[in-house]
Formats: sequence, structure tokens, C-alpha cells
Amino acid sequence: MVVSSEVVSSYEWRGRTGPLTLVLRPDVFTPTHTTLVMADALEINPEDVVIDVGCGSGVLGIVAARLGAARIIGCDLSNEAVDLAGENARRLGLGDCSEYHQGHLFGPVADVEADVVIGDVSGIPDAIAEVTPWTSGGPTGAELPIEMLETLGERLKIGGRLYLPTGTMQAEERLLEAARGIFGDANLHPLAVREFPLPTTVARSPAVQRLVDEGTLDMRPRGTRLMWRLTVWRCTRTGHP
Ligand SMILES: C[S@@+](CC[C@H](N)C(=O)[O-])C[C@H]1O[C@@H](n2cnc3c(N)ncnc32)[C@H](O)[C@@H]1O
Repeated sequence: MVVSSEVVSSYEWRGRTGPLTLVLRPDVFTPTHTTLVMADALEINPEDVVIDVGCGSGVLGIVAARLGAARIIGCDLSNEAVDLAGENARRLGLGDCSEYHQGHLFGPVADVEADVVIGDVSGIPDAIAEVTPWTSGGPTGAELPIEMLETLGERLKIGGRLYLPTGTMQAEERLLEAARGIFGDANLHPLAVREFPLPTTVARSPAVQRLVDEGTLDMRPRGTRLMWRLTVWRCTRTGHP
């Protein structure tokens, strides 16, 4: 499907494998700091089959393709994201090696076994989603990423790698506990750690303050700002947690 030109805008990606121009629209996730750090962390071998779950504009799958992956399968709950990701891939000459499907988590790719899964689904608490343009990952932000881990199963080959962002802007320890249970502690490797200031609108939200006070979110004050920490993990599926 071709996306209507009335709702799209151009976005210049200056991250890994860029610069390149993407088309975006207001109802599709705009790449963020997390996207940039995820892109830097990706390790792609020639011939890799890649599932990009929660693909948004398709940017991370596009980076993977430009790093040499053979096939990209993107999926997203949002129809608009799926249409836009397909449009972006076609515009960048990647139409032949990419496909995009709408649905919940791995539902649309039930027959695929990938070498790499890019697992950047929505992972912020409902209370933060209410004061930002981002979509929620559940009450503590860990629920949807944990469901993603629990349903990953055969979608990742033995020896395959999941690239997983976690952050102190969500119930990070719960998410990591689930990841350790599935992959085994020894198979989780932090590839990048970065700190970012929480947007002021988020820091001032009473609901967010409550999550900080009760210890669900772990923010570090710096001057007048609250800082949150992002970690990108490589989780290797060995078959032996
Ligand atoms: C944090 S954004 C990341 C988008 C993209 N990876 C990027 O970095 O620009 C998360 C994406 O997950 C999608 N998403 C939310 N719930 C989902 C679900 N249940 N199944 C699949 N995708 C989902 C959202 O629509 C959004 O595009």
C-alpha cells in the first residue's frame, strides 16, 4: 500500500548506516535516543534473517539490511507503522528483501525462524504514555516486553541473538528477571549503557512521581533533572537457560 503524501513528513536518520531519509507520519513512532543506541548495538552477519518486532517506521530493520542482513521481516500492532515501514524500505531500494505484517508481537511471523530478533516493542508505563506521544507497555512498562520474551520461542534459532532495550523508565528488574529465566544469566550481555534526562513533562507528572516513590522506576536526580538509564542487551539463545 502507498502511504498518502498528505500525512507524511521527511525524517533525516543520522544514526548508523545513515544519513538516509525516512518518511514518517504523526501516528507512527519517531526514532528516539533508544533507536540510535539500538542501531549502534546491532551485530549483523551476511545472510541473517531478521525479525524487527515493533518495527515502527522500519528504521532498525533498514539499518540491519544495510549492514548486510539477507531478509527483514518487520511487524507492528499499528497498521500505519506497517504501511510506512514498507514504504520506507521500498524507497531505500530494500523492497525485495523486506516484508511487513500487522499484528500482536510474533503473531504475524509464526512460521519464521530468525537469526536475529530486534525486540524494541513499547516498554514504558501507562502513566508515562499518558504524558508523551509514546505507546504503553503496560502498568509498569515491563508487561509487553515480558510477553514478547515469553512468546519468542522458536522465532529465534538456537544460536540466534535478541537485541533487547531495557530502562529504568520501566520496571527493569522484572524484565531482566524474565530475560534471565528464558536465556540464562550467562547469555545476557550488555552492549551499551546510556543515561538521558527524563522529559520535564514526564518528570512532573504525579503518576510518574508515584511510580518513582514506590520504587517501580529508578531515576537518578542530576541538578534539576531526573535521569533514566538505557541498557541494550544481546540475549543469545543457546537452548540451555
Ligand atoms: C518504542 S517503539 C519502537 C519503534 C522502532 N523500533 C524505533 O525504534 O523507531 C515500539 C513499537 O512497538 C509497537 N507495538 C506496540 N504494541 C505492540 C504489540 N502488541 N505488538 C507489536 N508491536 C507493538 C508500537 O506500535 C511501536 O511502533
